[in-house]
Amino acid sequence: MLLLNASGCLDALTAPEIAQALDAFVTKTVTPEPRDGSPPPRIAETDAGMLNAIGLANPGRERFLAQTLPRLRELSMPIWVSVGGFSSRDYAETCERLARDEAACIELNLSCPNVDEAPEAAAEIVSACRSATALPLYAKLSPHAWDIGETVRAVEAAGADGISLVNTLRGVALGADLRPTLARGAGGYSGPALKPVALAAVRAARQATDLPIVGMGGVWNGRDALELVACGATHVALGTLLFADPDAPARIRAELSEEAERAGFDRLEDVFGVAVGAVVKAGN
Ligand SMILES: Cc1cc2nc3c(=O)[nH]c(=O)nc-3n(C[C@H](O)[C@H](O)[C@H](O)COP(=O)(O)O)c2cc1C
Repeated sequence: MLLLNASGCLDALTAPEIAQALDAFVTKTVTPEPRDGSPPPRIAETDAGMLNAIGLANPGRERFLAQTLPRLRELSMPIWVSVGGFSSRDYAETCERLARDEAACIELNLSCPNVDEAPEAAAEIVSACRSATALPLYAKLSPHAWDIGETVRAVEAAGADGISLVNTLRGVALGADLRPTLARGAGGYSGPALKPVALAAVRAARQATDLPIVGMGGVWNGRDALELVACGATHVALGTLLFADPDAPARIRAELSEEAERAGFDRLEDVFGVAVGAVVKAGN
């Protein structure tokens, strides 16, 4: 099992020691053109999680390839590049520009604003990227998809090598004046409240595919990570938690094996997928 960061939740260049405590580093989503992102405020705390409207702020493909990626490679760890865009061509062109030895994997952020994540649209993007690169391609999906299983089957048929789930849920927070706290109005909701949503999405994806799955959403401790594995996650990513606890990678690893043992499993591998089947209770 690999322990990763969730895209956009860790800057490996300012906190290399946190990145190096992970098995691979996932970049913030890179789009073809530079993006300033949304106006501030872009972050709001809520009773049970965080809202962000960063708006995919990033330096754009050219600066990423010329400046950011070479510095990330100095970390001497596998780099997963998160790719975004507004059309399948946007995604494919970035994939094409990533040389085989520059990245370990590409995560396609299929939940970008204005990218319609209907199964056909997601499959079209994956298929265009498949023709553009031999690097492993993970399709990152939002929990909003009406039928996650169908989207998973569609992106697998289009050539995806793995699935990442979940991106944030759309949410709104209101201030004392009853106006939205975020300048953009709505934002992406992340943190502990997302865990049941993530478990359901990963479980539905596992019922639809044997591909590796990176599970994420609301992981706050080793038990949360273990539950994702039980629902069929092959790997686990830490998101919002990394803002609150820089020591989370080592802690989660230690807690994972303790929690597996507490749940009655000698080995973490034995937990994989145990929550995927239907529950049949005696007498039913
Ligand atoms: C501040 C912030 C920025 C994010 N930026 C990205 C991004 O650039 N690309 C992406 O695919 N997901 C992005 N996400 C979503 C996370 O990668 C992750 O899917 C989500 O936060 C759920 O995990 P969590 O509850 O553990 O945070 C971002 C999340 C946060 C909180």
